[in-house]
Amino acid sequence: MSSRVDERPLLELRGVRKTFAPRGRRARRTASAVAAVDGIDLALQAGTTTALVGESGSGKSTLARLIVRLHDADEGTITFDGQEIQALDEKAFRPLRRRVQMVFQNPLTSFDPSQTIGASILETMRLAPDDEPEQERLGRLLSEVGLSPRFAGLRPREMSGGELQRAGIARALSVRPDLVVMDEPTSALDMSIQGQVLELLADLQRRHRLTYLLVTHDLRAVRMMADRVVVMYLGQVVEEGPTEAVFGDPRHPYTRGLLYAYDLSGRDEERDRDVRIRGSLRTPRPGDVGCRLVGRCPLSADRCGEPQALAELAPGHRARCWRAAEGQIAGDRQPHATTDPTDLGELT
Ligand SMILES: Nc1ncnc2c1ncn2[C@@H]1O[C@H](COP(=O)(O)OP(=O)(O)OP(=O)(O)O)[C@@H](O)[C@H]1O
Ligand SMILES: [Mg+2]
Repeated sequence: MSSRVDERPLLELRGVRKTFAPRGRRARRTASAVAAVDGIDLALQAGTTTALVGESGSGKSTLARLIVRLHDADEGTITFDGQEIQALDEKAFRPLRRRVQMVFQNPLTSFDPSQTIGASILETMRLAPDDEPEQERLGRLLSEVGLSPRFAGLRPREMSGGELQRAGIARALSVRPDLVVMDEPTSALDMSIQGQVLELLADLQRRHRLTYLLVTHDLRAVRMMADRVVVMYLGQVVEEGPTEAVFGDPRHPYTRGLLYAYDLSGRDEERDRDVRIRGSLRTPRPGDVGCRLVGRCPLSADRCGEPQALAELAPGHRARCWRAAEGQIAGDRQPHATTDPTDLGELT
């Protein structure tokens, strides 16, 4: 975590949209396209951590993949260190590819099973050559993530999940990135290992002044790591702000429901009626312009059918809800996330 804030964001998204055709032949005939990411604005300051949260299917991974250019956006701009990445051809993008690295959820599938870990890391490391002899550099990288040099000779199946994820982090760091996008980096790991990996990430961030985008369902990790939190719902940002503000004074009914669902200690019937989000994620129907939470939100009203703007409630703290904008949802301290990580996809 870092409090240092630069003027120009390292990464800036404006109006970014990505639509997918429905999956499967039958679905393609009957269903409409899915706007997985539907008009996102986002700014990441260098040296900070931004957490991206929201239930399953809200578009977090799609957004992460757009940033590292595993997908191309249909609309909008993604600007990294002043350069609009979509406008660059493959050759011009190559230097940026080094500077923006991704760590995936499942370290086992992100390594080539037939290669040793050392060979895999070296392959990536060669994208950023320097004067240090390769083997020394490899050993130093492994030790930075807490692995002894002998791991270089092992294959992925010979290592534990935690060790592999450390190796995945070493591989990402091997090219000296500025931005590391992590999609659920700890969710495939044992609970006891998750904390260690998060601590390692925090330590590496301080040492190398890395910028993190952390996609996670683990609100404990968010509290520990993030300077800012961005809450997504059905392809849109519904709330964003400094971590303390979003956790301590959540303004969007969806965020309140998310935090409430996470806290197993402070439940009572009245609270349940006021904040609990019911049902499951639905696909917005064509022509739906209003709040996407209509039908699930305990505070729904006619006005929710109108378009909702992302309104600034306090410096840097925004929510996409007219009730929040009018101050109807305020000063209402939420129960804090004190429990173990739960799957927020199961909000019901
Ligand atoms: N390659 C794809 N082709 C078609 N649809 C896709 C594709 N990738 C994602 N989607 C759809 O886009 C929406 C957002 O998916 P995404 O994986 O980004 O959500 P997510 O927030 O990462 O969910 P989770 O928490 O489960 O990982 C979903 O409706 C999903 O089915
Ligand atoms: Mg995902």
